[in-house]
Amino acid sequence: MAEALRVGIAGLGTVGSSVARVLAEKTAELSRQCGREIAVTAVSARSRGRDRGIDLSSAVWFDDPVDLARSADIDVFVELIGGDNGAAHEAVKAALEAGRHVVTANKALLAKHGVALAEIAEKHGVLLNYEAAVAGGIPVIKTMREAMAGNTVTRVFGILNGTCNYILTRMEAEGLSFDACLKDAQRLGYAEADPTFDIEGHDTAHKLSILTSLAFGCRISAGDIYLEGISNITQADIRAAAELGYRIKLLGVAQRTESGIEQRVHPTMVPTASVIAQVHGVTNAVAIETDILGELLLSGPGAGGNATASAVVGDIADIAKSRPGFQHGPVFGLPAKELRPYKKAQMRSHAGGYFIRLTVYDRLGVFAAIAKRMADNEISLESIVQHGVGPDGEDRKTVILVTHETTEAAVRRAVEGITKDGHLTDKPQVIRIERAG
Ligand code: HSE
Repeated sequence: MAEALRVGIAGLGTVGSSVARVLAEKTAELSRQCGREIAVTAVSARSRGRDRGIDLSSAVWFDDPVDLARSADIDVFVELIGGDNGAAHEAVKAALEAGRHVVTANKALLAKHGVALAEIAEKHGVLLNYEAAVAGGIPVIKTMREAMAGNTVTRVFGILNGTCNYILTRMEAEGLSFDACLKDAQRLGYAEADPTFDIEGHDTAHKLSILTSLAFGCRISAGDIYLEGISNITQADIRAAAELGYRIKLLGVAQRTESGIEQRVHPTMVPTASVIAQVHGVTNAVAIETDILGELLLSGPGAGGNATASAVVGDIADIAKSRPGFQHGPVFGLPAKELRPYKKAQMRSHAGGYFIRLTVYDRLGVFAAIAKRMADNEISLESIVQHGVGPDGEDRKTVILVTHETTEAAVRRAVEGITKDGHLTDKPQVIRIERAG
């Protein structure tokens, strides 16, 4: 049997500990599958004394992850520190420059520095594997990069954040408050260290930016993503969606349009009968539409120690199976230097259906004024529903409009006009509707 693959793990939180545990528990299986043993020979973490329930006594301890990354005694550097700068960035760069393979679950790092790091990896002929960075345990990177060669992607979209999907699912199923659901997601180890990354959509945007690069052969451009999180989604929206045959999901969507590539992350109404609407709890799903394949939907566990560890271990095993002198494929599907500049489509040109929820004074002429603003902006309505606000809202009504396909610009103008008319008692709510099979 070939010599053992020597693995150094930096970061021993929920994911790092799970990776070390899986590698220890599955040594025999992995050795058979890879033709060599995978051994954790070095580790680095913030707290040396913490009991993680795993025996790491045979691994060399490094206080500084950058020293671990440069160590000549490892073949693979596994980065599970997190964060888009600082130690994670420095250590990954150092490892690649020292000719070590790198496995990372760090979507924020790749969203910011992915192309530059890919250039270093490609220059040094080493692998930069990042399956765990997008959609947890779902093997979407391998699928897009390797199994879909020759396909031209037209749209990629999905539920990419387990925490948000968990919160929205429980709010709908159990009528629970947003805060109670978020606390449970944190307790279960799904949420980021700073959960605003989850609920405000940044985590989804990081993951989407990576998928966009793979889908469209362009440079990663996370800063160009239109972003709305789920913190303003209320029980009123969830109930109204259900009444109209929709469910609310936080989606990341990237699609090719005539004016460029549209990248957006926002709460989205999807038809209740669609497959993606059946994706509940911490589960993630990614739909990829292409010219040859049609639509492919992958779904599976999107967050948590074991799901993420599964993807990390798969990436390490790929390195264990590769042989010296083997030419590794490019990190983002095309050589990093050949990735095209990202051409951004303007959000105002986005075309689609819209859900608009208005809380209005219950008085003469309000309905007519709303209808006029819609007509003036050439927005055709699919349905209008009006009902009472609740026991304490006798003088108010809720008006819910669902539009046929229109543009973002028209909807913004119409809602601005309605707001100026002075009939609204609360901020209007606008949620985009996504076509989904
Ligand atoms: N906080 C992330 C989520 C973890 O909830 O999906 C996986 O990236």
